[in-house]
Amino acid sequence: MSRRKLVVGNWKMNGLRAQLGEVEAIGGLARDYPAAEVGLCLPATLISAADGMKGAAFIGAQDCHMKESGAHTGCLSAAMLAEAGASWTIVGHSERRQDQGETDADIAAKALAAKAAGLKVILCVGESLDVRDAGDAEAVVSAQLIASLPEGAASDWLAIAYEPIWAIGTGRIPTMEAVAAMHAALRAALASRIGPDADEMRILYGGSMNGDNAAELLALADVDGGLIGGASLTAAKFAPVIAAA
Ligand code: G3P
Repeated sequence: MSRRKLVVGNWKMNGLRAQLGEVEAIGGLARDYPAAEVGLCLPATLISAADGMKGAAFIGAQDCHMKESGAHTGCLSAAMLAEAGASWTIVGHSERRQDQGETDADIAAKALAAKAAGLKVILCVGESLDVRDAGDAEAVVSAQLIASLPEGAASDWLAIAYEPIWAIGTGRIPTMEAVAAMHAALRAALASRIGPDADEMRILYGGSMNGDNAAELLALADVDGGLIGGASLTAAKFAPVIAAA
């Protein structure tokens, strides 16, 4: 078992060319802290320009279409994103599950489309506050993971991100015990589907991760990195997270 920490910024719908200096600075941080694999999932409009200034970081996308091409106005295929310079993509972020009504089956199909285009994939899962309060979080999120998992899921191209929906952008995070229990449950769920390779698959935590809590989160046995929103938008805020990994 050798899981290199994976620390990925998700800029969501933030970032104009004026912010490319931050990409360059974060690429420099990735060079300074080679123990971790560092990346930025950017708005698609920035991928091409960022590719030339990414330093030791990788550039990723935040979503891709499940089809290779066709009449899908406004959508981007995985091959388009790869050609622009992405080497990873997120699929199944809760904001897309909610805002675009993406289903588990859609997400599995998107992951396969990404793989076919040569992209690595971060597949997101997570529970609502109601589910957490009802005490069902581990069962619900494990089931969501199994239902979203693409055929042929393997640690050399897929990572999982556990993002409790109620922790995203709120400054609240679960207890360390709850994070540890969820990551262990997800690894067990993975093992039931993919066998021993589950020990190699990276499971990231996401949701209000920042320089103040990253070290404690990343020290948990089954937490193999982070998917970071707000605290990845500048090199100054992202630096302590990368350093903690
Ligand atoms: O994908 C990252 C994410 O949803 C967490 O966002 O701003 O809480 O770090 P944030």
